Amino acid sequence: MRLIRQRTEAVLGIDVGTQSTKCVVLSDNGDLLGIGQHGYGVQKPRPNWAEQSPDEWWNAAISAVRDAMRQANIPPTRICGIGLAGQMHGLVVVDHNLLPLRPAIIWLDRRSANLCDTVLERVGHDTAVQIAGNRLSPGFAAASLAWLNEVEPDTLAQARAVLQPKDYLVLRLTGELCSEPSDASATWLFDIHQRVWSPVLAEACGVPLDILPPVTESADVVGHLRTEAADALGLREGLPVVAGAADQAALLLGAGVIDSGRGSLTLGTGGQITIVSNRPRIDPELRLNTFFHAVPGLWYTMGAILNGGIALRWWRQAASPDDNHSYPELLATAEHVPAGSDGLIFLPYLEGERTPHMDPQASGAFVGLTLHHTQAHLTRAVLEGVAFAFRDCLLTLQETGPVPDHFLIGGGGSQSGLWRRILASVLGVSLQTVEGSEHTAMGAALLAGLGANLFYDLPQAVAHAVHYGPTVTPDPAEQAIYGERHAQFQALYPALRNIR
Ligand code: XUL
Repeated sequence: MRLIRQRTEAVLGIDVGTQSTKCVVLSDNGDLLGIGQHGYGVQKPRPNWAEQSPDEWWNAAISAVRDAMRQANIPPTRICGIGLAGQMHGLVVVDHNLLPLRPAIIWLDRRSANLCDTVLERVGHDTAVQIAGNRLSPGFAAASLAWLNEVEPDTLAQARAVLQPKDYLVLRLTGELCSEPSDASATWLFDIHQRVWSPVLAEACGVPLDILPPVTESADVVGHLRTEAADALGLREGLPVVAGAADQAALLLGAGVIDSGRGSLTLGTGGQITIVSNRPRIDPELRLNTFFHAVPGLWYTMGAILNGGIALRWWRQAASPDDNHSYPELLATAEHVPAGSDGLIFLPYLEGERTPHMDPQASGAFVGLTLHHTQAHLTRAVLEGVAFAFRDCLLTLQETGPVPDHFLIGGGGSQSGLWRRILASVLGVSLQTVEGSEHTAMGAALLAGLGANLFYDLPQAVAHAVHYGPTVTPDPAEQAIYGERHAQFQALYPALRNIR
């Protein structure tokens, strides 16, 4: 890598997640020197509500940074920049003293479910497609603001600014109010073509435009570390802080997915399958999400499933409530079951489904059970059912443009070789793992490295810091079986949707 500075230096990437805030220390030669993490919960003061305290994020960031620095074992003077990533869609409201006016309403919140339809009617489906490029879902900042406008108008009246979670941390670090396109586009208040806040969408939610923060690019330096923040973090004051990125965009960066036409698949609790493009690939039926990437000139379009690893976790508990089986043991038994699970199909909609059905009430099923089936068959059917749900996403993505035949794969579920092989054959694509962990915080660190001139450009930074593991390719015989099974899988949701 061409280094701009000759001494060994490093940057921090901080990811404000839903379960915890994580920090990585990344050296100028692309080595991960330290990781810190500090967890917290989600407050549910009423049914359907999901809130977090912005101060708790800040305190968690302090612990995570200090732990990561301890592990990295380098003097704070070596740190030359900070970048942020964070959970998307949420809402932090700050007053004229830049203090939070209420707890943050986060992306898991469902209080605005009914208001989403009202706002959509005000705007009209076609205008929503053209400007936002996305469905307005409960938990998106626009929906939470519409709720605030209706239920807590006094809070909105006192607001100096509304921010995304990671933007609140930028405020704590630098004193600056700002955002950037990857998070702004996921609020549903931003124009997906023009890269500006949309007066039409803001008006439909009752949001004054002047409380929406200025938008810069992800790698732009937006401010410098304030004395109080530097003291709290044990870092040197004046460090440049970049705007950062939404967690999905940062994850793409951390996996090196920075070119149009490339794709990534994440198999975590839920799952996402994402394609990067140099034009917005908007689904006219809004079954997909299209947001700005952290790289100027690029967008990504994402199909999301709600039941990924969580389906296997549910099945493991249901199959062995006393935790007799570890995941490797459970999965090993499924290796011996033939592709297609001898006629058994699992519909994984245990928590409803997003792409393609957008149905929070959808539910799961095992279909085709016979006396022949063993626990191992059911385990394999769960893995295959999740893969079929991903295939639905891939087919929906195909309706908006070409799909690549190679994807990078990450997330906890991707550690299973069997699940990766099933996914490759069901999707008909090759899947390559990305080494290491904390790819989202790594993406934030790469942006910090760019902003602080530690890295020459993003492709070089990625080439140095991102390392790839083995690739699995589809098995032609299994691919043929799965093609037929997927057609049957697709028939099940319409057949069963009224049985609830
Ligand atoms: C993306 C999404 C998640 C959240 C939580 O649409 O909902 O990535 O940002 O991390």
